[in-house]
Amino acid sequence: MKTIIGNWKMNPGTFIEAKRLFEATKKIPTNSKKVELIIAPPHMFLRELSKGYRGTRIEFAAQDISRDQEGSHTGETSATQVHDTGSTHVIIGHAERRALGENEEDIHAKVLMALEAKLNPIIAIGESERDAHGDYIKTVRRQITTALDGIPAARFKNITIAYEPIWAIGAEHAPDAHAVHQMVLLVRKTLRDFYGEKAMKATRIVYGGSVNEENARDIFSVPELDGVLIGRASLDPIKFATIARAAAETSV
Ligand code: 13P
Repeated sequence: MKTIIGNWKMNPGTFIEAKRLFEATKKIPTNSKKVELIIAPPHMFLRELSKGYRGTRIEFAAQDISRDQEGSHTGETSATQVHDTGSTHVIIGHAERRALGENEEDIHAKVLMALEAKLNPIIAIGESERDAHGDYIKTVRRQITTALDGIPAARFKNITIAYEPIWAIGAEHAPDAHAVHQMVLLVRKTLRDFYGEKAMKATRIVYGGSVNEENARDIFSVPELDGVLIGRASLDPIKFATIARAAAETSV
């Protein structure tokens, strides 16, 4: 089974366009035994898209939630409110949110909030650069262990880790399959070291950063990788369909 998550980010500009994009995405033929499709539109469009959808093949994710349950938090959206839109997932800790000041403690609090509200967290991690001393390895391990601190092994089946190196987001090229595999192994090893074999096996790991219709097949060939998190190519149904086809053809 391969998971494809389309992060629309702050696109498109109007609900009519969002509906059109969703209608086109909906038509992408996928075998639900082989491919799990998750769409993360802006909060503003989540409820109407999700409630208007009669199918079961596509699931919905928010792009962020508040670390608080309710109260005086102007402009924030709670995990419970997101769950109430019919969404099943939430992206937490995306690099573009971390760049706005979200820290690792916020991310940990949001993961707990999501699980409490029965939302499956998609936790985005990834280094900003590859330094010669290998500090990026420590960064990635720390991001994982702070986000998951204290979470019981039984909850790991609800967790997805999205390895998205910042240098590959919105870039021209994604790293090759070998480089992605190295990081998938690091994520799995970190999970095993800190939470045990069962938690490691239960967690889904996806790669994000410049996945497109040309490199998708290569990335789907990475062993022990469960899927991809896509930005730009999720806004183009033709590209998204090609990626979904590659996922189905490489899925076992
Ligand atoms: P791109 O696929 O546009 O590089 O974006 C990746 C991303 O940030 C998905 O969350």
